Amino acid sequence: MASRMSDPGSTVPAGTRLLPADAEGIAAAAGILRGGGLVAFPTETVYGLGGDATDPAAVAAIYAAKARPRFNPLIAHVPDVAAARGEGVFNDEALRLAEAFWPGPLTLVVPASPTIRVCDLARAGLKSVALRVPDSEVARALLSAFGRPLAGPSANRSGRVSPTRPAHVREDLDGRIAAILDGGDTPVGVESTVVACHDGPARLLRPGGVTGDRLRAVLGYDPAGPAASDTEAPAGPGLLASHYAPKARVRLDATRVEPGEAVLLFGGVPPAGWEMARASLNLSPAGDATEAAARLFGALRDLDATGAGTIAVAPIPRDGLGEAIRDRLQRAAAPR
Ligand code: TXA
Ligand code: MG
Repeated sequence: MASRMSDPGSTVPAGTRLLPADAEGIAAAAGILRGGGLVAFPTETVYGLGGDATDPAAVAAIYAAKARPRFNPLIAHVPDVAAARGEGVFNDEALRLAEAFWPGPLTLVVPASPTIRVCDLARAGLKSVALRVPDSEVARALLSAFGRPLAGPSANRSGRVSPTRPAHVREDLDGRIAAILDGGDTPVGVESTVVACHDGPARLLRPGGVTGDRLRAVLGYDPAGPAASDTEAPAGPGLLASHYAPKARVRLDATRVEPGEAVLLFGGVPPAGWEMARASLNLSPAGDATEAAARLFGALRDLDATGAGTIAVAPIPRDGLGEAIRDRLQRAAAPR
């Protein structure tokens, strides 16, 4: 049965509509965004919670829907490098990274341009802006129909696991946003890599869909993590210790499973005692980190739904997307 339709543009939706990702659904989503409403949209990484990045009221509604602290700035999604250069100042390294990885799972934090349209609130008052050109047909069609920078944090309640399918968005945000554009499962499964390019060498703020090896191949060096002296670096989800947290406790690098625990497996050799687990899911029986990344957040949600008090996680190597997977699991395991 179709849910009752709320007016496009309504910022206080009675129920959250699921829009098909066809021309009509995309036009409806763009109409809601133009009216200041919020629409969750698929990207290649995870679902974003979209709102007009140029409109402080829409951006305030994003922070409210997610219960996200306002000191934590949002990514602005744009259709191409030219649009990004209207918002931010790109040095040589930023341009090289943009050309190598856009469209794709890379976010560049650069100084705000004098012509910037992304509002101060979206940037949490910082002099920098986070920009990304997503590689998803649906996201790109939405950006071109909307015609303005689209603010898009992951479409979960603040601190929770990021959504990789429309049902995950509904679990966290039903009734709090106007619509969800249904693009099915997101293929990459972990969020974009965030790299800051100000003066001096590039810095890695969050590992993600573009691996460290691929960054090194373009930059010629391994970017360091956020500098301790950097007063511009916000304490954001990418940097907060506890984040991506299911309700269950998460126990990493488990070589044995305790009875009653849920277990997240990786590869062909399960930890001892796994037959006694309350539930088990294998991120990739073949031990492939790319496949594991695509399944990670859905598996955490599914194991959490079993009601297990603890999710034990088998060791996952650091290669390729393993670095981003381990980063998210470490934050999920951090004391709250
Ligand atoms: O893959 C992704 O990046 C997804 C999709 C929807 O694009 N978005 C996403 O957004 O993960 P969010 O808000 O969950 O994470 C954005 C990260 C946060 O850690 C935030 O602190 C950081 O980017 N960030 C945003 N603006 C920044 C800035 N000006 N300086 C430093 N970090 C910034
Ligand atoms: Mg997030």
